Amino acid sequence: MAKEKTVYSCTECGGASPKWQGKCPHCGSWNTLIEGVAEAAAGANRNRFASLAPPSEVAVLADIEAAEVPRTPTGIGELDRVLGGGIVEGGVVLIGGDPGIGKSTLLLQALDGLQRTGVPTLYVTGEESGAQVALRSRRLGLERSQVKVLAEIQLEKIQATIAAQQPAVAVIDSIQTVYSDQLTSAPGSVAQVRECAAHLTRAAKSGGTTIVLVGHVTKEGALAGPRVLEHMVDTVLYFEGDTHSSFRLVRAIKNRFGAVNEIGVFAMTEKGLKGVANPSAIFLSQHSEPVPGSCVLVTLEGTRPMLVEIQALVDSGGPSPRRLSVGLERDRLAMLLAVLHRHAGVACMDQDVFVNAVGGVRISEPAADLAVMLSITSSLRGRALPKGFIAFGEVGLAGEVRPAPRGQERLREAAKLGFSVAIVPKANAPKGKVRELEGLTIHPVERIEEALEAVRGLA
Ligand code: TYD
Ligand code: MG
Repeated sequence: MAKEKTVYSCTECGGASPKWQGKCPHCGSWNTLIEGVAEAAAGANRNRFASLAPPSEVAVLADIEAAEVPRTPTGIGELDRVLGGGIVEGGVVLIGGDPGIGKSTLLLQALDGLQRTGVPTLYVTGEESGAQVALRSRRLGLERSQVKVLAEIQLEKIQATIAAQQPAVAVIDSIQTVYSDQLTSAPGSVAQVRECAAHLTRAAKSGGTTIVLVGHVTKEGALAGPRVLEHMVDTVLYFEGDTHSSFRLVRAIKNRFGAVNEIGVFAMTEKGLKGVANPSAIFLSQHSEPVPGSCVLVTLEGTRPMLVEIQALVDSGGPSPRRLSVGLERDRLAMLLAVLHRHAGVACMDQDVFVNAVGGVRISEPAADLAVMLSITSSLRGRALPKGFIAFGEVGLAGEVRPAPRGQERLREAAKLGFSVAIVPKANAPKGKVRELEGLTIHPVERIEEALEAVRGLA
Protein backbone atom coordinates (compact mmCIF):
# COMPACT_ATOMS: atom_id res chain seq x y z
CA MET A 1 0.00 0.00 0.00
CA ALA A 2 1.34 3.41 -0.89
CA LYS A 3 2.13 5.70 2.00
CA GLU A 4 -0.55 8.29 2.40
CA LYS A 5 0.31 11.83 3.32
CA THR A 6 0.23 12.81 6.95
CA VAL A 7 -1.59 15.99 7.89
CA TYR A 8 -2.32 17.59 11.21
CA SER A 9 -5.76 18.86 11.98
CA CYS A 10 -6.95 21.10 14.76
CA THR A 11 -9.48 19.66 17.21
CA GLU A 12 -10.84 23.16 17.81
CA CYS A 13 -11.42 24.67 14.38
CA GLY A 14 -10.79 21.71 12.08
CA GLY A 15 -8.09 23.61 10.20
CA ALA A 16 -5.27 21.59 8.63
CA SER A 17 -1.53 22.07 8.80
CA PRO A 18 1.14 20.12 6.90
CA LYS A 19 3.41 19.93 9.93
CA TRP A 20 2.99 19.71 13.67
CA GLN A 21 3.00 22.97 15.54
CA GLY A 22 2.24 23.88 19.11
CA LYS A 23 -0.20 26.53 18.00
CA CYS A 24 -2.93 26.11 15.39
CA PRO A 25 -2.12 28.45 12.47
CA HIS A 26 -5.85 29.02 11.87
CA CYS A 27 -7.49 29.66 15.20
CA GLY A 28 -4.45 30.11 17.41
CA SER A 29 -5.39 27.43 19.98
CA TRP A 30 -2.51 25.67 21.68
CA ASN A 31 -1.85 21.93 21.58
CA THR A 32 -4.86 21.10 19.48
CA LEU A 33 -3.17 19.70 16.37
CA ILE A 34 -3.38 15.94 16.02
CA GLU A 35 -2.01 13.69 13.35
CA GLY A 36 -4.25 12.20 10.66
CA VAL A 37 -4.11 10.75 7.18
CA ALA A 38 -4.74 13.08 4.24
CA GLU A 39 -7.54 12.10 1.91
CA ALA A 40 -6.02 10.71 -1.28
CA ALA A 41 -5.36 13.32 -3.96
CA ALA A 42 -8.21 11.84 -5.98
CA GLY A 43 -10.52 13.50 -3.48
CA ALA A 44 -9.45 16.92 -4.72
CA ASN A 45 -9.90 15.93 -8.34
CA ARG A 46 -13.33 14.58 -7.62
CA ASN A 47 -14.47 18.00 -6.50
CA ARG A 48 -13.72 19.46 -9.89
CA PHE A 49 -16.22 17.11 -11.49
CA ALA A 50 -18.77 17.38 -8.71
CA SER A 51 -21.17 19.31 -10.94
CA LEU A 52 -21.26 16.33 -13.30
CA ALA A 53 -22.41 13.86 -10.66
CA PRO A 54 -26.07 12.80 -10.89
CA PRO A 55 -28.14 13.66 -7.81
CA SER A 56 -28.83 10.86 -5.35
CA GLU A 57 -32.34 9.64 -4.70
CA VAL A 58 -34.22 10.83 -1.67
CA ALA A 59 -37.22 9.13 -0.09
CA VAL A 60 -40.16 10.37 1.93
CA LEU A 61 -39.79 9.27 5.52
CA ALA A 62 -43.29 7.75 5.68
CA ASP A 63 -42.51 5.57 2.68
CA ILE A 64 -39.38 4.05 4.16
CA GLU A 65 -40.10 0.72 5.71
CA ALA A 66 -39.17 0.66 9.37
CA ALA A 67 -37.36 -2.59 9.94
CA GLU A 68 -36.54 -3.95 13.36
CA VAL A 69 -32.89 -4.93 13.35
CA PRO A 70 -32.39 -8.65 13.83
CA ARG A 71 -30.29 -9.53 16.87
CA THR A 72 -28.22 -12.49 17.81
CA PRO A 73 -28.19 -13.19 21.55
CA THR A 74 -24.76 -13.93 22.98
CA GLY A 75 -26.24 -16.39 25.45
CA ILE A 76 -25.04 -14.26 28.38
CA GLY A 77 -28.32 -12.83 29.63
CA GLU A 78 -26.94 -9.79 31.43
CA LEU A 79 -24.80 -8.80 28.43
CA ASP A 80 -27.74 -9.21 26.04
CA ARG A 81 -29.74 -6.99 28.33
CA VAL A 82 -27.33 -4.05 27.99
CA LEU A 83 -26.92 -4.64 24.28
CA GLY A 84 -30.68 -4.39 23.86
CA GLY A 85 -31.23 -8.07 23.10
CA GLY A 86 -28.04 -9.19 21.40
CA ILE A 87 -25.54 -8.17 18.78
CA VAL A 88 -26.60 -6.51 15.53
CA GLU A 89 -25.12 -7.29 12.12
CA GLY A 90 -22.57 -4.65 11.13
CA GLY A 91 -22.84 -2.97 14.52
CA VAL A 92 -19.80 -1.59 16.30
CA VAL A 93 -19.63 -1.93 20.07
CA LEU A 94 -17.09 -0.25 22.30
CA ILE A 95 -16.45 -1.78 25.71
CA GLY A 96 -14.45 0.41 28.05
CA GLY A 97 -13.23 -0.08 31.58
CA ASP A 98 -10.23 -0.11 33.88
CA PRO A 99 -7.50 -2.67 33.21
CA GLY A 100 -8.20 -5.96 34.97
CA ILE A 101 -11.91 -5.39 35.43
CA GLY A 102 -12.95 -8.32 33.22
CA LYS A 103 -13.39 -7.08 29.65
CA SER A 104 -11.37 -9.87 28.04
CA THR A 105 -13.02 -12.47 30.25
CA LEU A 106 -16.55 -11.39 29.39
CA LEU A 107 -15.87 -11.17 25.66
CA LEU A 108 -14.19 -14.55 25.50
CA GLN A 109 -17.21 -16.03 27.26
CA ALA A 110 -19.56 -14.23 24.86
CA LEU A 111 -17.63 -15.34 21.76
CA ASP A 112 -17.65 -18.92 22.93
CA GLY A 113 -21.40 -18.71 23.53
CA LEU A 114 -21.93 -17.38 20.01
CA GLN A 115 -19.59 -19.91 18.42
CA ARG A 116 -21.50 -22.74 20.10
CA THR A 117 -24.69 -21.64 18.38
CA GLY A 118 -22.89 -21.74 15.04
CA VAL A 119 -21.98 -18.06 14.72
CA PRO A 120 -18.44 -17.71 13.29
CA THR A 121 -16.26 -15.60 15.59
CA LEU A 122 -12.76 -14.13 15.68
CA TYR A 123 -10.85 -12.94 18.72
CA VAL A 124 -8.02 -10.57 17.85
CA THR A 125 -5.61 -10.25 20.73
CA GLY A 126 -3.01 -7.53 20.83
CA GLU A 127 -2.23 -7.58 24.52
CA GLU A 128 -1.85 -11.26 25.18
CA SER A 129 -0.37 -14.13 23.21
CA GLY A 130 -2.52 -16.95 21.89
CA ALA A 131 -1.17 -19.11 24.72
CA GLN A 132 -2.33 -16.63 27.34
CA VAL A 133 -5.78 -16.50 25.80
CA ALA A 134 -5.85 -20.29 25.78
CA LEU A 135 -4.91 -20.31 29.45
CA ARG A 136 -7.80 -18.02 30.24
CA SER A 137 -10.19 -20.14 28.21
CA ARG A 138 -9.15 -23.26 30.18
CA ARG A 139 -9.75 -21.38 33.37
CA LEU A 140 -13.21 -20.49 32.13
CA GLY A 141 -13.90 -24.17 31.42
CA LEU A 142 -13.91 -23.64 27.67
CA GLU A 143 -11.39 -26.36 26.75
CA ARG A 144 -13.09 -27.23 23.50
CA SER A 145 -13.79 -23.73 22.38
CA GLN A 146 -13.89 -23.32 18.60
CA VAL A 147 -13.37 -19.54 18.74
CA LYS A 148 -10.71 -18.48 16.23
CA VAL A 149 -7.84 -16.48 17.68
CA LEU A 150 -5.54 -14.04 15.89
CA ALA A 151 -2.58 -12.50 17.72
CA GLU A 152 -1.97 -9.36 15.68
CA ILE A 153 -1.70 -5.62 16.18
CA GLN A 154 -1.27 -4.27 12.69
CA LEU A 155 -4.49 -2.81 11.35
CA GLU A 156 -3.99 -3.78 7.72
CA LYS A 157 -3.36 -7.42 8.62
CA ILE A 158 -6.35 -7.50 10.94
CA GLN A 159 -8.57 -6.07 8.22
CA ALA A 160 -7.30 -8.56 5.67
CA THR A 161 -7.93 -11.43 8.08
CA ILE A 162 -11.46 -10.27 8.80
CA ALA A 163 -12.11 -9.99 5.07
CA ALA A 164 -10.75 -13.50 4.47
CA GLN A 165 -12.37 -15.22 7.47
CA GLN A 166 -15.70 -13.39 7.30
CA PRO A 167 -16.55 -13.83 10.97
CA ALA A 168 -19.99 -12.67 12.11
CA VAL A 169 -18.41 -11.20 15.22
CA ALA A 170 -14.85 -9.99 15.74
CA VAL A 171 -13.44 -8.75 19.03
CA ILE A 172 -10.44 -6.39 18.93
CA ASP A 173 -8.72 -6.62 22.32
CA SER A 174 -7.69 -3.86 22.63
CA ILE A 175 -8.04 -0.94 20.20
CA GLN A 176 -5.14 0.81 21.96
CA THR A 177 -2.69 -1.85 20.79
CA VAL A 178 -3.71 -1.67 17.13
CA TYR A 179 -1.59 0.50 14.87
CA SER A 180 -1.56 1.43 11.23
CA ASP A 181 1.57 1.88 9.09
CA GLN A 182 -0.05 4.92 7.56
CA LEU A 183 0.57 6.98 10.65
CA THR A 184 3.88 7.75 12.26
CA SER A 185 2.54 8.30 15.76
CA ALA A 186 2.88 5.64 18.42
CA PRO A 187 0.29 2.89 18.96
CA GLY A 188 -2.15 3.99 21.62
CA SER A 189 -1.96 7.67 20.66
CA VAL A 190 -5.19 9.49 19.88
CA ALA A 191 -4.43 9.65 16.18
CA GLN A 192 -3.75 5.91 15.94
CA VAL A 193 -6.73 4.87 18.05
CA ARG A 194 -9.10 7.08 16.11
CA GLU A 195 -7.85 6.22 12.67
CA CYS A 196 -7.80 2.46 13.35
CA ALA A 197 -11.27 2.50 14.89
CA ALA A 198 -12.60 4.44 11.91
CA HIS A 199 -11.17 1.88 9.47
CA LEU A 200 -12.59 -1.03 11.46
CA THR A 201 -15.98 0.69 11.68
CA ARG A 202 -16.07 1.10 7.93
CA ALA A 203 -15.13 -2.55 7.51
CA ALA A 204 -17.95 -3.56 9.86
CA LYS A 205 -20.53 -1.54 7.95
CA SER A 206 -19.45 -2.79 4.54
CA GLY A 207 -18.74 -6.42 5.44
CA GLY A 208 -21.57 -7.01 7.91
CA THR A 209 -19.23 -8.18 10.66
CA THR A 210 -20.10 -7.04 14.15
CA ILE A 211 -17.00 -5.51 15.66
CA VAL A 212 -16.42 -5.21 19.38
CA LEU A 213 -13.63 -2.81 20.33
CA VAL A 214 -12.11 -3.14 23.77
CA GLY A 215 -10.74 0.11 25.20
CA HIS A 216 -8.87 0.75 28.40
CA VAL A 217 -9.81 3.81 30.32
CA THR A 218 -6.50 5.45 31.06
CA LYS A 219 -5.79 6.98 34.44
CA GLU A 220 -4.89 10.29 32.78
CA GLY A 221 -8.49 10.44 31.66
CA ALA A 222 -10.12 10.80 28.32
CA LEU A 223 -7.23 11.56 26.02
CA ALA A 224 -6.07 8.32 24.47
CA GLY A 225 -8.87 6.39 26.05
CA PRO A 226 -12.06 5.09 24.48
CA ARG A 227 -13.88 8.39 24.91
CA VAL A 228 -12.53 9.71 21.62
CA LEU A 229 -14.31 6.82 19.90
CA GLU A 230 -17.74 7.20 21.43
CA HIS A 231 -19.19 9.21 18.59
CA MET A 232 -18.22 6.80 15.85
CA VAL A 233 -19.54 3.54 17.28
CA ASP A 234 -23.14 2.34 17.65
CA THR A 235 -23.02 1.11 21.20
CA VAL A 236 -20.85 2.15 24.14
CA LEU A 237 -20.66 -0.05 27.21
CA TYR A 238 -18.64 0.72 30.31
CA PHE A 239 -17.54 -1.66 33.00
CA GLU A 240 -17.85 -0.30 36.51
CA GLY A 241 -17.09 -1.70 39.88
CA ASP A 242 -14.45 -2.00 42.44
CA THR A 243 -11.71 -4.43 41.41
CA HIS A 244 -11.49 -5.38 45.08
CA SER A 245 -15.07 -6.57 45.22
CA SER A 246 -16.38 -9.30 42.97
CA PHE A 247 -19.32 -7.37 41.54
CA ARG A 248 -19.16 -5.69 38.16
CA LEU A 249 -21.69 -3.52 36.40
CA VAL A 250 -21.79 -3.14 32.65
CA ARG A 251 -23.60 0.02 31.70
CA ALA A 252 -24.84 1.07 28.26
CA ILE A 253 -24.22 4.77 27.87
CA LYS A 254 -25.02 4.94 24.17
CA ASN A 255 -27.00 2.51 22.09
CA ARG A 256 -28.32 3.08 18.61
CA PHE A 257 -30.11 -0.28 18.84
CA GLY A 258 -31.58 -0.23 22.31
CA ALA A 259 -32.16 1.56 25.58
CA VAL A 260 -29.37 3.44 27.29
CA ASN A 261 -28.69 3.36 30.97
CA GLU A 262 -29.57 -0.30 31.08
CA ILE A 263 -27.16 -2.24 33.24
CA GLY A 264 -25.97 -5.80 33.47
CA VAL A 265 -24.74 -7.08 36.81
CA PHE A 266 -22.03 -9.72 37.09
CA ALA A 267 -20.02 -11.41 39.77
CA MET A 268 -16.39 -12.36 39.04
CA THR A 269 -15.99 -15.98 40.08
CA GLU A 270 -13.31 -18.67 39.76
CA LYS A 271 -14.82 -19.52 36.41
CA GLY A 272 -15.29 -16.08 34.92
CA LEU A 273 -18.15 -13.63 35.05
CA LYS A 274 -21.55 -14.90 36.06
CA GLY A 275 -24.74 -12.88 35.67
CA VAL A 276 -26.48 -11.85 38.88
CA ALA A 277 -30.17 -12.21 38.19
CA ASN A 278 -31.43 -10.51 41.32
CA PRO A 279 -28.98 -7.75 42.07
CA SER A 280 -31.01 -5.28 44.10
CA ALA A 281 -29.38 -6.10 47.43
CA ILE A 282 -25.72 -6.64 46.53
CA PHE A 283 -24.54 -3.16 47.45
CA LEU A 284 -25.60 -3.28 51.07
CA SER A 285 -23.06 -3.93 53.76
CA GLN A 286 -24.25 -6.16 56.51
CA HIS A 287 -24.36 -4.22 59.74
CA SER A 288 -25.85 -6.29 62.54
CA GLU A 289 -26.99 -3.07 64.23
CA PRO A 290 -27.53 0.32 62.56
CA VAL A 291 -24.42 2.55 62.62
CA PRO A 292 -24.20 6.35 62.44
CA GLY A 293 -23.43 7.76 58.99
CA SER A 294 -25.11 5.02 57.02
CA CYS A 295 -28.29 5.42 54.99
CA VAL A 296 -29.72 3.03 52.42
CA LEU A 297 -30.73 4.60 49.13
CA VAL A 298 -33.11 3.07 46.60
CA THR A 299 -31.62 4.08 43.28
CA LEU A 300 -32.73 3.26 39.79
CA GLU A 301 -30.26 1.66 37.42
CA GLY A 302 -31.84 1.66 33.99
CA THR A 303 -35.15 0.03 34.71
CA ARG A 304 -34.05 -1.74 37.88
CA PRO A 305 -34.44 -0.46 41.40
CA MET A 306 -31.32 -1.22 43.46
CA LEU A 307 -30.49 -0.63 47.08
CA VAL A 308 -27.15 0.99 47.75
CA GLU A 309 -25.74 1.95 51.10
CA ILE A 310 -24.49 5.54 51.30
CA GLN A 311 -21.88 6.11 54.00
CA ALA A 312 -20.79 9.44 55.35
CA LEU A 313 -18.08 10.37 57.79
CA VAL A 314 -18.07 13.85 59.23
CA ASP A 315 -15.04 14.62 61.34
CA SER A 316 -13.42 17.79 62.60
CA GLY A 317 -11.11 19.08 59.89
CA GLY A 318 -8.24 21.53 59.65
CA PRO A 319 -8.31 25.12 58.44
CA SER A 320 -9.49 24.07 54.99
CA PRO A 321 -11.80 21.09 55.55
CA ARG A 322 -12.02 18.46 52.86
CA ARG A 323 -15.04 17.26 50.92
CA LEU A 324 -14.49 13.91 49.28
CA SER A 325 -16.91 11.60 47.59
CA VAL A 326 -16.50 8.18 46.05
CA GLY A 327 -19.18 7.09 43.59
CA LEU A 328 -21.08 10.37 43.95
CA GLU A 329 -20.49 13.76 42.40
CA ARG A 330 -18.31 16.05 44.48
CA ASP A 331 -19.83 19.29 43.22
CA ARG A 332 -23.23 18.02 44.20
CA LEU A 333 -21.92 17.19 47.67
CA ALA A 334 -20.77 20.78 48.15
CA MET A 335 -24.20 21.98 47.08
CA LEU A 336 -26.02 19.62 49.44
CA LEU A 337 -23.86 20.78 52.34
CA ALA A 338 -24.81 24.38 51.57
CA VAL A 339 -28.52 23.46 51.45
CA LEU A 340 -28.20 21.59 54.76
CA HIS A 341 -26.65 24.63 56.35
CA ARG A 342 -28.96 27.24 54.94
CA HIS A 343 -32.28 25.46 55.23
CA ALA A 344 -31.85 22.99 58.05
CA GLY A 345 -29.23 24.75 60.16
CA VAL A 346 -26.82 21.81 59.97
CA ALA A 347 -23.33 23.28 59.79
CA CYS A 348 -20.32 21.28 58.56
CA MET A 349 -18.12 24.30 57.78
CA ASP A 350 -15.21 23.26 59.99
CA GLN A 351 -15.62 19.53 59.34
CA ASP A 352 -14.13 17.10 56.85
CA VAL A 353 -16.95 15.37 54.99
CA PHE A 354 -16.41 12.04 53.25
CA VAL A 355 -19.18 10.27 51.37
CA ASN A 356 -19.02 6.85 49.76
CA ALA A 357 -21.41 4.68 47.75
CA VAL A 358 -20.69 1.13 48.91
CA GLY A 359 -19.48 -1.50 46.44
CA GLY A 360 -17.87 0.73 43.83
CA VAL A 361 -21.13 1.78 42.15
CA ARG A 362 -21.34 5.20 40.59
CA ILE A 363 -24.53 7.09 41.29
CA SER A 364 -25.33 10.10 39.17
CA GLU A 365 -29.04 10.56 39.74
CA PRO A 366 -30.11 13.48 41.93
CA ALA A 367 -32.58 11.19 43.71
CA ALA A 368 -29.62 10.23 45.91
CA ASP A 369 -29.62 13.68 47.57
CA LEU A 370 -31.89 12.90 50.50
CA ALA A 371 -29.98 9.75 51.46
CA VAL A 372 -26.65 11.61 51.22
CA MET A 373 -27.92 14.42 53.45
CA LEU A 374 -29.42 12.05 56.00
CA SER A 375 -26.21 10.04 56.23
CA ILE A 376 -24.18 13.23 56.72
CA THR A 377 -26.48 14.46 59.49
CA SER A 378 -26.47 11.03 61.06
CA SER A 379 -22.66 10.98 61.17
CA LEU A 380 -22.41 14.56 62.42
CA ARG A 381 -24.79 13.84 65.29
CA GLY A 382 -23.39 10.39 65.96
CA ARG A 383 -26.88 8.95 65.80
CA ALA A 384 -27.79 6.00 63.63
CA LEU A 385 -30.85 5.99 61.43
CA PRO A 386 -33.50 3.43 62.45
CA LYS A 387 -33.16 -0.22 61.55
CA GLY A 388 -34.63 -1.08 58.15
CA PHE A 389 -34.56 2.53 56.97
CA ILE A 390 -34.46 3.74 53.35
CA ALA A 391 -34.69 7.13 51.66
CA PHE A 392 -34.64 8.70 48.21
CA GLY A 393 -35.52 12.05 46.67
CA GLU A 394 -33.88 15.01 45.02
CA VAL A 395 -33.23 18.11 47.12
CA GLY A 396 -33.32 21.52 45.47
CA LEU A 397 -31.42 24.69 46.32
CA ALA A 398 -34.49 26.09 48.06
CA GLY A 399 -34.54 23.09 50.38
CA GLU A 400 -37.51 21.45 48.69
CA VAL A 401 -37.64 17.66 48.32
CA ARG A 402 -38.54 16.76 44.76
CA PRO A 403 -40.02 13.47 43.56
CA ALA A 404 -37.86 10.78 42.03
CA PRO A 405 -38.89 8.92 38.87
CA ARG A 406 -40.69 5.60 39.46
CA GLY A 407 -41.14 6.07 43.17
CA GLN A 408 -43.66 3.24 43.56
CA GLU A 409 -41.24 0.72 42.09
CA ARG A 410 -38.49 1.86 44.44
CA LEU A 411 -40.78 1.54 47.44
CA ARG A 412 -41.97 -1.89 46.39
CA GLU A 413 -38.41 -3.15 45.97
CA ALA A 414 -37.48 -1.90 49.45
CA ALA A 415 -40.59 -3.54 50.92
CA LYS A 416 -39.74 -6.79 49.14
CA LEU A 417 -36.28 -6.81 50.73
CA GLY A 418 -37.77 -6.37 54.19
CA PHE A 419 -37.14 -2.66 54.82
CA SER A 420 -39.63 -1.16 57.25
CA VAL A 421 -39.33 2.67 57.32
CA ALA A 422 -38.99 5.13 54.47
CA ILE A 423 -38.66 8.89 54.12
CA VAL A 424 -39.59 9.90 50.59
CA PRO A 425 -40.82 12.93 48.62
CA LYS A 426 -44.52 13.57 49.13
CA ALA A 427 -45.35 13.03 45.46
CA ASN A 428 -43.81 9.55 45.60
CA ALA A 429 -45.81 8.38 48.61
CA PRO A 430 -49.06 6.46 48.10
CA LYS A 431 -52.11 8.71 48.01
CA GLY A 432 -54.60 8.97 50.84
CA LYS A 433 -54.20 8.46 54.55
CA VAL A 434 -52.65 5.01 54.34
CA ARG A 435 -48.89 5.40 54.57
CA GLU A 436 -48.02 1.78 54.39
CA LEU A 437 -46.92 -0.51 51.60
CA GLU A 438 -46.40 -4.21 52.20
CA GLY A 439 -44.94 -3.68 55.67
CA LEU A 440 -43.03 -0.49 54.79
CA THR A 441 -44.11 2.60 56.74
CA ILE A 442 -43.78 5.69 54.56
CA HIS A 443 -43.14 9.23 55.80
CA PRO A 444 -43.77 11.74 53.02
CA VAL A 445 -41.81 15.01 53.20
CA GLU A 446 -41.77 18.21 51.19
CA ARG A 447 -38.72 19.93 52.65
CA ILE A 448 -35.32 18.96 54.00
CA GLU A 449 -36.16 20.38 57.46
CA GLU A 450 -39.21 18.14 57.50
CA ALA A 451 -37.11 15.11 56.63
CA LEU A 452 -34.71 15.78 59.54
CA GLU A 453 -37.69 16.33 61.83
CA ALA A 454 -39.19 13.02 60.71
CA VAL A 455 -35.90 11.24 61.42
CA ARG A 456 -35.82 12.66 64.95
CA GLY A 457 -39.39 11.43 65.44
CA LEU A 458 -38.37 7.92 64.46
CA ALA A 459 -35.45 7.60 66.87
P1 TYD B 1 -9.53 -9.52 32.40
O1 TYD B 1 -10.70 -10.05 31.65
O2 TYD B 1 -8.20 -9.95 31.95
O3 TYD B 1 -9.57 -7.94 32.49
P2 TYD B 1 -9.40 -6.83 31.36
O4 TYD B 1 -9.44 -7.50 30.05
O5 TYD B 1 -10.56 -5.91 31.60
O6 TYD B 1 -8.11 -6.14 31.62
O7 TYD B 1 -9.80 -9.89 33.92
C1 TYD B 1 -8.78 -10.09 34.74
C2 TYD B 1 -9.14 -10.28 36.17
O8 TYD B 1 -10.18 -11.20 36.39
C3 TYD B 1 -7.92 -10.82 36.84
O9 TYD B 1 -7.66 -10.01 37.95
C4 TYD B 1 -8.27 -12.22 37.21
C5 TYD B 1 -9.76 -12.22 37.26
N1 TYD B 1 -10.37 -13.50 36.84
C6 TYD B 1 -11.12 -14.23 37.73
O10 TYD B 1 -11.28 -13.88 38.88
N2 TYD B 1 -11.73 -15.40 37.31
C7 TYD B 1 -11.58 -15.86 36.04
O11 TYD B 1 -12.15 -16.92 35.69
C8 TYD B 1 -10.80 -15.09 35.12
C9 TYD B 1 -10.58 -15.53 33.73
C10 TYD B 1 -10.21 -13.92 35.55
MG1 MG C 1 -7.80 -7.70 28.72
